[in-house]
Amino acid sequence: MIRAVVDTAALRHNLTRVREIAPNSRVLAVLKANAYGHGMVAVASALAGADGFAVARLGEALALRAAGHSQRIVLLEGVQGAEQLREAAGSGFELVVHEPGQIALLEAWRGAHLFRIWLKIDTGMGRLGFRPGELPAALERLADCKAIMRPIALMTHLAEAELKDNERTRAQLECFERLTAGLAGERSIANSAGMIGWPSTRTEWVRPGLMLYGISPFAGSTGADLGLRPAMTLESRVIAVRELADGDRVGYGGVWTARRATRIAVVAAGYGDGYMRNTASGTPVLVNARQARLAGRVSMDMLTIDVTDLPQVAIGDPVVLWGSGVPVEIVAAAAGTIPYELVCRVSERVHIDVR
Ligand SMILES: Cc1ncc(COP(=O)(O)O)c(C=O)c1O
Repeated sequence: MIRAVVDTAALRHNLTRVREIAPNSRVLAVLKANAYGHGMVAVASALAGADGFAVARLGEALALRAAGHSQRIVLLEGVQGAEQLREAAGSGFELVVHEPGQIALLEAWRGAHLFRIWLKIDTGMGRLGFRPGELPAALERLADCKAIMRPIALMTHLAEAELKDNERTRAQLECFERLTAGLAGERSIANSAGMIGWPSTRTEWVRPGLMLYGISPFAGSTGADLGLRPAMTLESRVIAVRELADGDRVGYGGVWTARRATRIAVVAAGYGDGYMRNTASGTPVLVNARQARLAGRVSMDMLTIDVTDLPQVAIGDPVVLWGSGVPVEIVAAAAGTIPYELVCRVSERVHIDVR
């Protein structure tokens, strides 16, 4: 009943937009977390024109290889332990190196494989990477390391790129520039927001995730504003229609009360599918391509919408929860979260229908 329709033409269009915005950069398409809930293997096929893929963890990269994807694959968290290093070598994965223990693993490597590595510098994100004061020692150790190809690539990650004209992003960019001046390797800074909002981040490699899925990283805007097309449409159907009298309450907690004679349609979609429970009443939902509004608390398998003004609505009618016609950015804001979380949370029982 409920399904996430993934539009491969939209994915390809969005990759084209990435190339228009950063024509001189190569593109690492970020496919972690099951390609932001869109289905990693199918998305990788649709985005085969990217210059490489990035995932968070080894298991994700192995799944891509097992599905026959032979592109360059970067592990954004690098490897954890010698066993993972062996597996990464076996499949030719590239490693982000962000802490001294990962250098030690490479120093101890005795195999024939030479690793491509991406040295991560923490310029202000405060999460992964060598801090400026730690960088010289890391570079010195890597200069003596026999297990890696040279020159090593250099990367950082922006903490607030979605805020335009932001002092802290400027400081991160200056820091990266200063620390990498004179180093030979290719550079990578930009996530989607960086790429769009901060032209100086369009270096040798960009790492877009969200925008490839047609979603805007900026609060208050949608993918369409950026020339993107939503790749995922979460669809279901009406399974019941009921007439309520003025004063009748709807759903758990009775948090929504009819203020007139009202028709309510019950839709087979709930927080068990990934449509968040705290999404506010009034959030747009499309039924038969016409706009209705969420009315009452979302339950595990169902939600209720006010269709009083759409008298033709009947059992079996198609509903769009987000995607084409209902921007996921708007639904996310109505649920007090970001669109990244909504698409990643689409649950296993939702069939992904790749078209
Ligand atoms: C290191 C790194 N680069 C790039 C991205 C892609 O970011 P976005 O989806 O905002 O484009 C991510 C995702 O969080 C990331 O962790």
